[in-house]
Amino acid sequence: MPPLRLAMLGAGNVAESYVRQIRRLREEGVNVELAAICSRSLDPARRLAEIFGIAESGTDIAALLSRKDIDAVIVLTPMQCHAEHVRLALASGKHVLSEKTLAASAEEGCGIAALAAERGLLLRAAPFTTLSPVFRDARHRLERGEIGEALCCRALYGWEGPDWADWFFRPGAGALRDLGVYALTTLTGLLGPVASVFAQASEVKPDDHGQGLQLSLRFTSGCVGTITTQFVGQDWDPKGLQLWTAETGCWRLFEEDATWPWTDGVRDFCASIIEGASGDLSIDHVLHVLDIIDQALASLDCGMPMAVASRFAPPSLRSRLDMNKSHRIHNPLTLT
Ligand SMILES: NC(=O)c1ccc[n+]([C@@H]2O[C@H](COP(=O)([O-])OP(=O)(O)OC[C@H]3O[C@@H](n4cnc5c(N)ncnc54)[C@H](OP(=O)(O)O)[C@@H]3O)[C@@H](O)[C@H]2O)c1
Repeated sequence: MPPLRLAMLGAGNVAESYVRQIRRLREEGVNVELAAICSRSLDPARRLAEIFGIAESGTDIAALLSRKDIDAVIVLTPMQCHAEHVRLALASGKHVLSEKTLAASAEEGCGIAALAAERGLLLRAAPFTTLSPVFRDARHRLERGEIGEALCCRALYGWEGPDWADWFFRPGAGALRDLGVYALTTLTGLLGPVASVFAQASEVKPDDHGQGLQLSLRFTSGCVGTITTQFVGQDWDPKGLQLWTAETGCWRLFEEDATWPWTDGVRDFCASIIEGASGDLSIDHVLHVLDIIDQALASLDCGMPMAVASRFAPPSLRSRLDMNKSHRIHNPLTLT
C-alpha cells in the first residue's frame, strides 16, 4: 500500500512542529510521508527539507499542487492567505488541513467547505483543542454530571504576541482569531453552540497591539460565559484539570499526559483519509467558531449583542479514556 503523501505550504515558525509530528506518526507506524515543503522564500523550506529529509522543497505553489502524487496539503501560511491556499489545494484535488483560521469569515469558510464536499475531499482546520486529553477528560466529567449542569464559564488566553511576523497584527488576523479562537473552540466543544455574543474592546493607540477584548457569550443550553483575550498577559497550556464538587469540598487536580502535541490534528486528519472515516474533528464546529468571531466583530462595531445563527453537533470522543489511570492523582496540596 503506498503511503499517504503530504505536502506543506509554509515553512515558518510552526512548520517544524508539524514536521516533527508527521515523523512521530511514521514512527508509530502510520503509513504517511511528507513529500514536499513549499514556502514564499526558498531558504526556510530548504532548511527544513535538509534537516528532516523531505524529498522536495520549493517556492512554486502551483507546481506543487499540480503534482498527481501528492494526496493532501497542510496549509501553514499566514491566516490572511489561508482561504486562497486552501481553495487552490482543494481545486487541485487534495485533502486539506489548515492552520487557524480557515477563512476570514464564516461565509468564506462555508464556501470552502462546500467546495471540499463537492470534490469529496477531507477538509479540517485548527485549533485541535478538542483532541487534547484535558478537553476529553473535562467533557467526560461534564457528561457524567460530575459538576451538575454548567451554568457559567470563563476562559482567558493572552501572551505578548509573535515577534517573528507582523501579519498577526494586520486586518484579517488579531488576538481574537489568533488566540481567542482556542477558547471559543474549547468552550463550544464542551458546552455546545453559542446563541449570541456581545464584544467589548479596550481603547488603544493605533500602534498598540495590546488591545484587550472581552466576549460575553450566551450558549443555546442557557449557560453564559466570558472570554478575555489579548496580545498581552497570561499564556495558557493546561497540563490537567482542577475539579471542585460539593461532595469533596476541595479542589482536586487530575494531571494529564503533558506530552500531547497541539499539532495532533495531523493524526486525526491522516487517519481519517487512510481509514475513509470522518474522524474526531468537525468542520461544522470550525464554521460555528468563525460565525461567533464574525458576530463578535460586528458587535464591536455596533455596540450591541449579536445573534449567532449557525449550529453544530458536539465533537465526538472516539478515544476512550481510562479514568482509573494511576497518574490521575488526587493532590489538593498543589493548589492555592
Ligand atoms: N507560531 C505559532 O506559535 C502558531 C501556533 C499555532 C498556530 N499558528 C498558525 O500557523 C500558521 C503559520 O504561523 P507561523 O507563526 O508559522 O507564521 P510565519 O512564521 O509567518 O510563517 C508563514 C509561512 O508562510 C509563508 N508565506 C508568507 N506569506 C505568504 C504568501 N503570500 N504566500 C505563500 N507563502 C507565504 C512564509 O514565507 P516567508 O518566510 O518567505 O515569508 C512562511 O514560510 C498561522 O495560521 C498561525 O495562525 C501559529
